[in-house]
Amino acid sequence: MYVKAPVSICLFPAAGYGTRFLPATKAMPKEMLPVLTKPLIQYGVEEAMAAGMNTMAIVTGRGKRAIEDHFDVSYELEHQIKGTSKEKQLADIRHIIDKCTFSYTRQVEMKGLGHAILTGETLIGHQPFSVILADDLCVNGDEGVLTQMVELFKKYRCSIVAIEEIDPSQTDKYGVIAGEEIAPNIYRVSTMVEKPAPADAPTNLAIIGRYILTPDIFDILRETKPGKGGEIQITDALMEQAKAGNVIAYKFRGKRYDCGSVDGYVEATVDLYEQSKKNDER
Ligand code: UTP
Repeated sequence: MYVKAPVSICLFPAAGYGTRFLPATKAMPKEMLPVLTKPLIQYGVEEAMAAGMNTMAIVTGRGKRAIEDHFDVSYELEHQIKGTSKEKQLADIRHIIDKCTFSYTRQVEMKGLGHAILTGETLIGHQPFSVILADDLCVNGDEGVLTQMVELFKKYRCSIVAIEEIDPSQTDKYGVIAGEEIAPNIYRVSTMVEKPAPADAPTNLAIIGRYILTPDIFDILRETKPGKGGEIQITDALMEQAKAGNVIAYKFRGKRYDCGSVDGYVEATVDLYEQSKKNDER
């Protein structure tokens, strides 16, 4: 599908159970885990804002109310710290609340990422949209990954997935693509496989948690049968678009931390801490 409209809304599927972080995620959403003092989902919202979006659509599930509360004013708290040195610690989130509109819907049954995205249709309607999986924390100075992808969308006007080269032994944790490199770091996707065993993987180019999707994806998702793991997979729906040549994969500039895993989360925390210390010294 060739889409003229710009990308002005970002969808955050945030209904997963986050079992790898139990017990921390028993009563608290994974997306609220902090790296330093900021929850993962706030990094995602800031990345979307930097890419020109100010409408955020969030797919939540049971036990996720903290996300809604985070993107709302807290009058008591603000009253308490007004005029103190702590006030500046709320400045960023206050700015987000002032600039953005948030809407929410619930995924009642956890039937997979594809199903979560389809649940978001009611918030998106018929327009192209971006998707951020907040547990993939991406950093790249002033030019975020979504900013890079929006630039690419202006040229190709079709669905775009962010990819990175992974260790070939890890393919069974990702959606994996193959395709022709039509420009440096840009591929026209011909094949997509969800979590292939290393021996069956067409390449080591793995999809990470950033997408731009054209709205025809919803009709495709409605018809998509449960795939790997009995879940409705976005990779299977994207493969339908890819058959018509309508999916681009983009090897982005920047660093991704898999904050859905303990190792990635600790690495992100250490790196961002060191970076913040360096900034303080300046
Ligand atoms: P994950 O594969 O990381 O699953 O989902 P999870 O449940 O969040 O975490 P673990 O594996 O149990 O530790 C990838 C993304 O898709 C969302 C998740 O919130 C996460 O952002 N998701 C997944 C949904 O919103 N709904 C689903 O049914 C499945």
